[in-house]
Amino acid sequence: MKEIRIGLLGLGTIGLGAARILLEQQALMARRLGRRLRLVTAADRNLNREFDLDMSGVRLVDDAQAVVTADDVDIVIELIGGYEPARSFVATALERGKHVVTANKALIAKHGDELFALAERKGVALAFEAAVGGGIPCMKALREGLAANAVESIYGILNGTCNYILTRMENEGAAFDDVLRDAQQLGYAEADPTFDIEGIDTAHKLSILAAMAFGSEIHFDEVFTEGISRITPDDIRSAYELGYRIKLLGIAKPHGEQVEMRVHPTLVPLHSQLAQVSDSYNAVQISGDFVEHTMYFGRGAGERPTASAVIADVMDIARVLPDGVAHLAPPMGFVAAERRNMPTMPVVDAECEYYLRFMVQDRSGVLAAILSILADHRISIEAVIQKERHATEAVPVVMMTHSTSEGNLQSAIARIVALDCVQRDVLILRKEETH
Ligand code: HSE
Repeated sequence: MKEIRIGLLGLGTIGLGAARILLEQQALMARRLGRRLRLVTAADRNLNREFDLDMSGVRLVDDAQAVVTADDVDIVIELIGGYEPARSFVATALERGKHVVTANKALIAKHGDELFALAERKGVALAFEAAVGGGIPCMKALREGLAANAVESIYGILNGTCNYILTRMENEGAAFDDVLRDAQQLGYAEADPTFDIEGIDTAHKLSILAAMAFGSEIHFDEVFTEGISRITPDDIRSAYELGYRIKLLGIAKPHGEQVEMRVHPTLVPLHSQLAQVSDSYNAVQISGDFVEHTMYFGRGAGERPTASAVIADVMDIARVLPDGVAHLAPPMGFVAAERRNMPTMPVVDAECEYYLRFMVQDRSGVLAAILSILADHRISIEAVIQKERHATEAVPVVMMTHSTSEGNLQSAIARIVALDCVQRDVLILRKEETH
């Protein structure tokens, strides 16, 4: 039985998970593959610690360069994370003719296109299923299972940390900061949690999904991105009363040659499937012109689920070695020559229904003044909620609008916050009719 030799970069949470599968699940994988996977070497900067698995047969080194240049490695697994030095190590491995598997969404979102081109030149594979949706094989589904479809929309709950925070804020009325601390302790959060809570991690993932869905180059820097840090338990309650749950969604839709990409807290109908996705779970809803609506659900983070996707990629590559990688589906779902530089739709052109939370002085005429400006901009109102009365403090007024363009809404808001009786920090959330 042929043996495929693996080198691993990074023995953090996911790295140890990948090592665990390679060491403990060998027999099952050999039965599925008809060949054996062997973890030959692993690199980590900190080897002065106990590992809770037997690594005695693995060459442990503290220098990743030694792994990406090793003669006895066929496939490199990059689980360092972040842009650099991960990019340099991946590039060196590809240059040396090694196949690479990574879970690094930041790397693929920012440098993916240049690395795919390098991999293609070298005739090697660059696989990244674990980069989006953790253990959920959503990109395999998009790239292969849905290949006969023109994709019409993608809605994704793509960040476990945010979904966990929003779920607990809803269930317990808990404050954002307290719940974030717990999410970090549970190991869902990125090293820098602002990537999670400000939507950057979701934008990384969405930009990859959108490029794969529509055959475009990856435009991470152009994703309209807002996070969840301004949401309060009161907003979650108001949205619920209006029939919605707040989720941090990544949204991508094609508009002719343009691609709409938005990441923001979104009101989704309480009865929709995405509204049922709670805690740290992820879900991706992909609609295609022939298949209609499909949904992929599961663990989007954590050691074992993420490692599961990493090793599935390793197995895909191992199955076609030594020289059959041309038989793998193209990494971004379209042959390289057919991928286009599709422009990102300017966000001001996006059409949405909005949830607006104004902090206002509770006196007569305030609501009328806001409504009159909205009417000037032909923005019609679906619902209004005003609750507490405080003689001196500002009170929240929540409005749901009918559909209007982002540009029109922003001009109306600029006029509203210029009113003396309205504070400047308006919370703007968007609604999507998800399935
Ligand atoms: N920080 C990410 C999350 C991990 O919370 O979902 C998986 O990419």
